Amino acid sequence: MEFVRVLYASKATNIYPDLKQDLIKILDTAVDFNSRNEITGVLYYGHGYFVQCLEGRKSKIDELFYEKILKDDRHKNCEILFYEKCDFGLFKHWNMKFAPINKRLGDFFLENHRDDFNPFLLTTNSIPSFIELLASEYATEPYVFEVND
Ligand SMILES: Cc1cc2nc3c(=O)[nH]c(=O)nc-3n(C[C@H](O)[C@H](O)[C@H](O)COP(=O)(O)O)c2cc1C
Repeated sequence: MEFVRVLYASKATNIYPDLKQDLIKILDTAVDFNSRNEITGVLYYGHGYFVQCLEGRKSKIDELFYEKILKDDRHKNCEILFYEKCDFGLFKHWNMKFAPINKRLGDFFLENHRDDFNPFLLTTNSIPSFIELLASEYATEPYVFEVND
C-alpha cells in the first residue's frame, strides 16, 4: 500500500460573491468524498490563489487530482508543487480543512519570497517548511497510515 502527499497551487476563476458559493460547494463535496476515501488535507485561499495539501492512498489521490480537481473549472493554472511518498499523515483530523490565509502564512511569504501570499512562488527550498507550517497550524501529532486494509 502506497501513501502520498501532494501540494498544488491554482488560481480561482471567480471572485466574491461567486467564489463564496464555489467554496461552499467544493467543501461539501470534499468532506464527503475525502472521508469516504480516507483522504486528509487542508485547503487555503488568499489573494485569488488556492493551495491545497492532500494525503492518502496513492490511487485515491491520483484519481481525485487527475480526474476531478484538475478538470474543475472553478480554478485554473493548476500546478503540482510537490508530490512524495509518505509514511505518516500530517492532517489526520481533517478530511478537508478550509481556511483563508492568515498572518503566519502571509509572513512566511514575506520572509521567504519577499512578497505577499502567492503559492506559485514556492520553491524546492521553501516547500518543506511551508508544509511544516501548514501542519503546525493545527499542532497535531503525525499518524501512521493503516497498512493492512
Ligand atoms: C481548489 C479546489 C479544491 C478541491 N478539493 C477537493 C477535495 O479535496 N476533494 C474532493 O472530492 N473534491 C475537491 N474539489 C472538487 C472537485 O474538483 C470536483 O468538483 C468534485 O470532486 C466533484 O467531481 P465529480 O463531479 O467528477 O464527481 C476541489 C475543487 C477545487 C476547485
